[in-house]
Amino acid sequence: MPKSPSLSRRAFAKAAAALSTAAAPLASLASASSASAQSAPLRARIKVDTERIIGQIDPLIYGNFIEHLGRCIDGGIFEEGHPNSDANGFRKDVFAAVSKLNVTQLRWPGGNFSSNYHWRDGIGPRDQRPRRLEMAWGTTETNRFGTHEFLQYADMLKTEPYICVNLGTGSWTDAQQWVEYVNSSADTAMTRLRKQNGRADPWKVKLWGLGNEMDGPWQMGHRSADDYGKFALEAAKLMRWTDPSIKLVAAGSSHFSQGIDWVGWNRTVLDHLKNHIDYLAIHTYVGNRDNDYYEFLASSRDLDNRTKTVEGIIDAALSSTPNPRKIYIAWDEYNVWYRARGEKERGRRILEEIYNLEDALVIATFLNSFINHAHIVKIANMAQLVNVIAPVFTNDREVFLQTIYYPLQLIANNSRGAALSLFTDCPTYSSKRFGPVQYLDSSAALDNGALVVNIVNRHRDQPIETTLELQDKRFTGPVEISEVNGPDIKSENTFGKTLVKTTTRTATAEANRLRLTLPPHSFTMVKVRTA
Ligand code: AHR
Repeated sequence: MPKSPSLSRRAFAKAAAALSTAAAPLASLASASSASAQSAPLRARIKVDTERIIGQIDPLIYGNFIEHLGRCIDGGIFEEGHPNSDANGFRKDVFAAVSKLNVTQLRWPGGNFSSNYHWRDGIGPRDQRPRRLEMAWGTTETNRFGTHEFLQYADMLKTEPYICVNLGTGSWTDAQQWVEYVNSSADTAMTRLRKQNGRADPWKVKLWGLGNEMDGPWQMGHRSADDYGKFALEAAKLMRWTDPSIKLVAAGSSHFSQGIDWVGWNRTVLDHLKNHIDYLAIHTYVGNRDNDYYEFLASSRDLDNRTKTVEGIIDAALSSTPNPRKIYIAWDEYNVWYRARGEKERGRRILEEIYNLEDALVIATFLNSFINHAHIVKIANMAQLVNVIAPVFTNDREVFLQTIYYPLQLIANNSRGAALSLFTDCPTYSSKRFGPVQYLDSSAALDNGALVVNIVNRHRDQPIETTLELQDKRFTGPVEISEVNGPDIKSENTFGKTLVKTTTRTATAEANRLRLTLPPHSFTMVKVRTA
């Protein structure tokens, strides 16, 4: 007897549902239909072995970035005449918030701005400095914040300054003389000028960037990889002959659009510069344009993949060189940036992204990724520090801490020493771009017996009962737990309202086991001693 068409359609739909259920990774069911998943709690195990060392975590991965862009410097860290600013014009409330981030190195003056920045404009008496048209972001630049102000700020913050020279519209001599002005002890016209401007001793800045995003057509002075490689090589030689102790960072790829040969850019740049540089810089910004939480939360997979690819390109470039100098990766711009983007990118109040909880979780996974590649990623800079895609936000009167501030603060202040390779047994969900993605994303650091484990629970709705299993040691003493979370994945902070923040509690471990309940959409940092 023929089946009625409607019945067969229903039967087909049922069978298809059953099939897709069987094929779906365990925990993606939890997000789709909660009834069955709620009855069976999700569980995970993370195995920690203190001998499985990936590499030493370079403190320079906790860097930040200030650019002459919007209200990052002017109206952010620097506001002359503001009642809350010191005699130099540095805002004290901003400084207080920034100081708690443990910024280990600070990149300046850009970004795109650096590609037409002529450093001599920013020295000497402030009132006599020239105002210039600023073409990267469509404003005028007063130059009241220049080399001396930057280096004074870095000094106050006890952070390593990192200067990016202009290889867009600048010359080799500009770059060389900037190093001379800042670092030289010789008696020359440049160092006399520095003394005349109030600074007798050289600052001895170690980190110097050879231009910014030179692969991007949006860059002033954009070049082909070959032209950039040749140009940067001559700048590098002159800069290093001025001060042989400096470390040089070449502009690797920042342009990852489809059809762009970003691998080829890095390969060509390394061919030219491999005997002269210490780091290759790459940049990334991610966003949740499709409002797809789980895809967005998997973004660090891209970061992992690019890190691995660039590491391979570096290895390949160095394979034909006897006794090569080591070259590391500098992720010297990273962040979530997609809302305050596009046509509105010109003027004073731009790139003022307001962050929510899901952005903070993505930042935690990025930091995990840097730690998990500690052997090769030796520099990273959240872009930027204040107001412009930043963890600290101001108005005329006060400051608030954005959601992304909290994971950065916890990880940057606590994850040091050796990065450990973890084994995680955990439910997964299915990502369109990356296939199965574990709900838990983690990293660990061991410093003289003090263990820190950083864990993001990406699950939007469910806690995950997690056991940390220490393979070769025992936990000793109290366990400190810090958690970043908020009411909802879209929760944001603002002036006078902090929905997303860090809360702390303690726990007790049994010998080599520590049981944790990791709440949905949370970042948890566990800190405990081992013996
Ligand atoms: O950080 C904002 C901008 O992003 C920087 O100026 C540029 O380097 C990147 O494209």
